[in-house]
Amino acid sequence: MANPPIAFLGTGAYVPSRILGNNEIAQRVETSDEWIVTRTGIRERRIAGPTETVSDMATAAARAALEDAQISADQIDLIILATLTPELTMPATACLVQKKLGVSERAACFDLNAACTGFLYALDTAWALLASGRYRHALVIGAEKLSSVLDWTDRSTCVLFGDAAGAAILGPARTNTQGILGTRLHTVPGAAELLYIPGPEVSPNPLDLRRLLRMKGREVFKFAVRAMEDVARELLEQHQIEAHQIDRVIPHQANLRIIDAIAHYLKLPLDRFYINLDRYGNTSAASIPLALHEARQQGKIRPGDLTLLVAFGAGLTYGGALVRW
Ligand code: UT7
Repeated sequence: MANPPIAFLGTGAYVPSRILGNNEIAQRVETSDEWIVTRTGIRERRIAGPTETVSDMATAAARAALEDAQISADQIDLIILATLTPELTMPATACLVQKKLGVSERAACFDLNAACTGFLYALDTAWALLASGRYRHALVIGAEKLSSVLDWTDRSTCVLFGDAAGAAILGPARTNTQGILGTRLHTVPGAAELLYIPGPEVSPNPLDLRRLLRMKGREVFKFAVRAMEDVARELLEQHQIEAHQIDRVIPHQANLRIIDAIAHYLKLPLDRFYINLDRYGNTSAASIPLALHEARQQGKIRPGDLTLLVAFGAGLTYGGALVRW
């Protein structure tokens, strides 16, 4: 008998309790709630507490996903954690999560960095490893403490990002509709200078402003619209699916104007897209699993639904996935 397809068995998310609204940022840098809302759609974001770590947030999201999937930690034999803000340079944050969850030594645990496309890169990797038959249940996490890499004096970036974690359990499908149908990942070469965080070669002091996130926003915006539309079309064509057959799109939550443009080009109504960036801003690798979990909780993704996940980020990376629930 053929192996069952690999499917999402559960999802979970965690956001810190501290809410940072636009007006509070406007007291620190020259900006306004009106500018941020009209240019981005973001109203507030969550900020991790000083002692709250990436592995704490990732573990909380993972616990929720395990409960949702009704799977125990000792059934997990693969943890892939996507992040651009790892807790330590080494070991991988996935190893810290393994310990906190009580996942056994049999598990392979590693981090992966594809910036805001990280969750889709981790999903694709986990899917391939599970489909090979060498692993049975994967915990795939996107977790970020972006507040620690932002220059809070740079109004063009500090208003955009927030902290959060999202997680998913992947394993053999339990129903005959479920399954990951396809994924596509790409990277534009030579575009690193559009969005980056320098390393210690720039300055040995991690608090030096030159060590923080830098972005050419307008260029990234144009790329984002082109890339997400391209990869969505590529996936649809490959699977002979018409855009209108997609029940829900889960886009990377970076800017409402970017999502609006994709909806326009794909000729889909905006209400087909799940949007929560107004409450969380851009949480990079956590953005898609956080949105997925909320959409499921709100009944906006139901069993049998077809979803398109689509993201872009530093690299420049981009990618998409088609998932049946
Ligand atoms: O996951 C990937 C992460 N990256 C992204 O998603 C970024 C994609 N890019 C964007 O979302 C948009 O480009 C931004 C929201 C970053 C900026 O919006 P924009 O409409 O492209 O504005 P702009 O960069 O062209 O700047 C327009 C003006 C500038 O002033 P001048 O030169 O016209 O006088 C900026 O200095 O807006 C100014 N500005 C601000 N003003 C008030 C930039 N940031 C702010 C701010 N408040 N926070």
